[in-house]
Amino acid sequence: MVEHGYTGHIDPTHQGHYVSHPETHPIHIDRVDAHQILDSRGYPTVAVTMHLGDGSTVDASAPAGASTGAYEAAELRDDGPSYSGRSVHRAVSSVTDEISPLLAQGHWSSIRQVDDAIRALDGTDNLARLGANATVAVSIAATRAFAHYAELPLHTWIAHVTDSVERMPVPHFNVLNGGAHAANPLEFQEFMVAPVGAATEEAAVEAGAEIYHALAARVKAKFHTAGLGDEGGFAPDIASPEEAMELLITAIQDAGYTPSLDDVAIAIDPAANGFYERDGQYKIAGTLLSRDQLVDYYVRLLDQFPLRSIEDGFAEDDHHGWKLMFDAVGNRTQLVGDDLYVTDMHRIADGAKNRYSNAALIKPNQIGTVTGTLDAIETAKRLGMQSMVSHRSGETLDTFIADLVVGTGVGQIKSGAPARGERIAKYNRLTQIEAGTARIPYGLLPTTARATDAVAP
Ligand code: PGA
Ligand code: ZN
Repeated sequence: MVEHGYTGHIDPTHQGHYVSHPETHPIHIDRVDAHQILDSRGYPTVAVTMHLGDGSTVDASAPAGASTGAYEAAELRDDGPSYSGRSVHRAVSSVTDEISPLLAQGHWSSIRQVDDAIRALDGTDNLARLGANATVAVSIAATRAFAHYAELPLHTWIAHVTDSVERMPVPHFNVLNGGAHAANPLEFQEFMVAPVGAATEEAAVEAGAEIYHALAARVKAKFHTAGLGDEGGFAPDIASPEEAMELLITAIQDAGYTPSLDDVAIAIDPAANGFYERDGQYKIAGTLLSRDQLVDYYVRLLDQFPLRSIEDGFAEDDHHGWKLMFDAVGNRTQLVGDDLYVTDMHRIADGAKNRYSNAALIKPNQIGTVTGTLDAIETAKRLGMQSMVSHRSGETLDTFIADLVVGTGVGQIKSGAPARGERIAKYNRLTQIEAGTARIPYGLLPTTARATDAVAP
């Protein structure tokens, strides 16, 4: 029972089992402390410690993006002189002065009840008043509190409340960086290797690390540098996506694996907002391409390389481009909407209805609550779309996304290169989960209807 009178609001179009699942034990929150910490790029972010009624504490911290979508939930930053406006003292105050007194008012029976109360307190559509960086950290801490009270590992609690089958995900290691994450001329933001053929998470992590090391040797020999982008991938002076993919192919072979859709596949996140010019024109390696020419370009890459997934191949508002792309290759490769959907169930449902893509990227801070994140995953599942859980370019040591991807069983995660502590923390959590419960299967879900049979909710 909540004592402050908030009754809760449940979207009538969507009632996930985690609304009031019998596995959910009520939690008691005494208070939530917060402070400013630094993320992996040296910019401020929000960390919280939630004090629970049984005397224990749970922690969480918020990630932050660089190539953020226009429709993401809004971070609250101070816009003052400190850290070029990026300090988060106002978001910290949102937690200590507003959210903490709200949550300290009683027992909470579900994560949806907590998140709905925070949303009501915020009062805006995009969490701009309290700040999504404040709310996502509190929401993740509260999720940990529910798992703690239920005496379940976090991933298992998530699986129970979402009625999911746990699954170890195929990790997508971002080993070559460009775009907003690097200083090189490469427009495409991420080039990933995905060990789809590995038998276990441990084997997949080994493949990713071995390929990363092989790539390091190649990059050092060819470019005389081992400079890194924000997500730990190399950022040599490459201009063309083809050259980047050739390098990946060589590194995969050097490490003793087969570049193929069955062993180690390639995935890319062009993050097309970054090279969208205007009027349906995109600029790659100095050349201006129309939508049709960009689709043809992706088709050539698909013909040439073992490419299993293309994320944000078109800009977030270029729905026309997304539709052209889906009609051309939606039946042969995974097309992931990141900035297009911003982890918003309504935008995902719209994308399924209009056939923009067959997969959604899932980033909890884009929607600002765990409930919003679970809604996005469930909506994608229901409409025959795949999901891939994702870190942000600015990360902390919080490993929530590792438990999230296992617990929802969606089968895919990207958490940057297999190097740098904040990226490795997620992969290490995955292998730790696997070691603790070896019976969880590894790998991708069987491909479903690829959104082609999707119906409007
Ligand atoms: P971001 O990039 O975290 O900087 O937004 C990640 C992505 O585009 O997937
Ligand atoms: Zn992206």
